[in-house]
Amino acid sequence: MKTNLDDTCTRFDDKAAEWDANPARVALARAVVEAIRTAVPLRPDMAAMDFGAGTGLVSLGLLPDVGEVTAVEASGEMLRVLGEKVKALGVSNLRTLKCDVGEAALPRGCFDLIVSSMVLHHLPDVPLVLRHLLPALRPGGWIALADLDSEDGTFHADPTGIFHHGFERATVCRWLEESGFADASSREAYRITRPGADGVMRTYPVFLVTARALQLKVLADQGLVATCKEGTVKRCSIRNKDFLKLFTCLHRHLTEVL
Ligand SMILES: C[S@@+](CC[C@H](N)C(=O)[O-])C[C@H]1O[C@@H](n2cnc3c(N)ncnc32)[C@H](O)[C@@H]1O
Repeated sequence: MKTNLDDTCTRFDDKAAEWDANPARVALARAVVEAIRTAVPLRPDMAAMDFGAGTGLVSLGLLPDVGEVTAVEASGEMLRVLGEKVKALGVSNLRTLKCDVGEAALPRGCFDLIVSSMVLHHLPDVPLVLRHLLPALRPGGWIALADLDSEDGTFHADPTGIFHHGFERATVCRWLEESGFADASSREAYRITRPGADGVMRTYPVFLVTARALQLKVLADQGLVATCKEGTVKRCSIRNKDFLKLFTCLHRHLTEVL
C-alpha cells in the first residue's frame, strides 16, 4: 500500500538533482545553521543528527562546528546527491541513514544535538516524531528545529506531502515540552520573500525552536533510573560512567532549588 511517505519521497526524489541549484534554498540553510550557532553552544565533540537532511545543506554547514553528523533522510535520490558531495569534499565524519525518522529504530542516547530544517511540515504527526527522537539524545542534549511560521497555504504550489501550513511557534514549544523536552524557546531564523502559489509576492518567516533533553524521563528511558507515577525516583542504577549523565540531568533541578 502506498503511504504518505512514498508521496513525499517521490516529490523529493524528483527534485534532488536540482535542489542545490536554487540559491534561495542555499541561503535559507545558511541562515538556519547561523541561527543554530547562535542558539546552541556547539562543541567539536558533539554528535549531531540532521533529519530530513536532503542534500545535506544544513548537515555540511554544521560539520565544522561539531564532531560528526548523521544525516537521516527518506529519499534515496536526496541521499545519492549528498553521497556525491561527501565524496567530492573528502568528508569522513558525515554518515547517512536512509529511513523514516518517525519509524526507524534510532540509536538510544547517542546524540548531543538533533536538528532539522523545513521538515516538520512534511510530518503528519509531529508530536509522535518528537517523542520518538527524545531517547536518541544524551541527557543535556539539544534539539533545534526550523520551519515556517503559520502561513496562508500559499507557500507550496504542490500540496503533495504537505501536512501543515507552517506552525505557531508556541504550539511547537508546547509539543516539545509535552514530549519530555525542557526549556523550549523560539526565535526568527530567516525570512523567505518569494511569490506564493497565486503569484503574489509574500514574506514567509522561518523560526528556529530549541529545547533540551534535561528530564528525568530521559534517564528513565535509558534504564538508568526508575520513576514512580508522580515522577519521583524510586530506583537508580548508576555506574561510574553514567554519573556524569545523571549530574547533567539533575543540575537544572538543583539550580532551580538553589
Ligand atoms: C523541504 S526538504 C528539506 C531538506 C533539507 N533539510 C534542506 O534544508 O535543504 C524536506 C526533506 O525531508 C525529508 N523527509 C520528509 N519526511 C521524512 C521522514 N519521515 N523521514 C526522513 N526524511 C523525511 C524529505 O525527503 C526531504 O528531503
